[in-house]
Amino acid sequence: MRLLVTGAAGFIGTNFVRQALEAGGTAASRVERLVAVDLLTYAGNFANLADLSADTHFRFERLDIAQRDAMEGLLREERLDTIVNFAAESHVDRSIADQAPFLHTNLHGTLALLDAARTVGGVRRFLQVSTDEVYGSIAEGRATEEWAARPSSPYAASKTAADAFVLAYATTFDVPAVITRCSNNYGPYQFPEKLIPLFVTNALDGHPLPLYGDGQNVRDWIHVSDHCAALWHVLELPGAEGGIFNVSAEDERPNRAVTDLILRLTGRPPDLVRYVTDRPGHDRRYALDAGRLRATGWRPRHGFEDGLAATVEWYRAHRPWWEGVKSGAYREYYRETYGARLRDASGAPPGTAPRS
Ligand code: DAU
Repeated sequence: MRLLVTGAAGFIGTNFVRQALEAGGTAASRVERLVAVDLLTYAGNFANLADLSADTHFRFERLDIAQRDAMEGLLREERLDTIVNFAAESHVDRSIADQAPFLHTNLHGTLALLDAARTVGGVRRFLQVSTDEVYGSIAEGRATEEWAARPSSPYAASKTAADAFVLAYATTFDVPAVITRCSNNYGPYQFPEKLIPLFVTNALDGHPLPLYGDGQNVRDWIHVSDHCAALWHVLELPGAEGGIFNVSAEDERPNRAVTDLILRLTGRPPDLVRYVTDRPGHDRRYALDAGRLRATGWRPRHGFEDGLAATVEWYRAHRPWWEGVKSGAYREYYRETYGARLRDASGAPPGTAPRS
């Protein structure tokens, strides 16, 4: 494969690239060339990939995927035949505060990339990395790929719109595109704005854990390396063009249960938890049916408890990484998102007596 990986310096992109190029990596033998693109906005971190620079299979370019001509140039120059599009603004809370970057990268960026792929030709697979959030909150059962999209947040709406364009380009212009929709990821290199890395790093420092609402919203968790392995699997699946594949370990947990596990793994007391004002439009539950993908032979390898324990150890061992990421503009973001909420917080869920 001659791969273009966009959003390569973000959390999932980093894990995917490292799986490809690390010695003994699951995909190493399949990769002839890997061109990594990232705009290095707040969540992209070149340090995640810096040690790969000496690898002759690897090239890094700082680029905005919405720059259609630049993307077209790169596809031509490098004769790339496979595109994996991770590039996205991905944090729901940020999409509530400001929608513009989500429209730019998630929608216009994806469209530019599709258009570049169509113009250049020679692309054998365009993999759009999407999300279970397109299905919206799931009251009962598990969402299959046939479910209609019902996005709740501006982030989910932007990903839904991008998915629609990917399918339209597959149908109208024969771009050999596939969509994967994955559940909540956790693991190394995740930006500490998301629940697990935020709570792990706060807990390691003895800082409060701001749990939204009653803490009973449910998320469906998968280790990032299982997600990346699923993507390699889908890239090589014959006849998948125009298809959608849910990716999930089908392991759902209420946020409070995840929080309690983090407290246990970091050796911190329950009174670190603060119940704070809920996220507007907060989806109550995500749950995916990954039967279609499993039927093709893919299986997740990490159980949640073990995967989370290993993740906590990673953050413990990589303090300089996350302390660097949690400085500068992050502090301003944290103050704006949590400052007032933490001042008004309670140690007990809303409507209940405080825990003694
Ligand atoms: O489901 C896949 C999606 O998972 C991805 O498409 C998104 O890019 C990714 O951000 C994630 O979305 P969530 O909104 O589920 O993830 P987040 O880590 O922000 O929140 C997980 C749950 O934890 C959610 O119910 C909100 C809650 N939460 C989150 C934060 C950041 C809290 O209670 N407190 C917090 O401070």
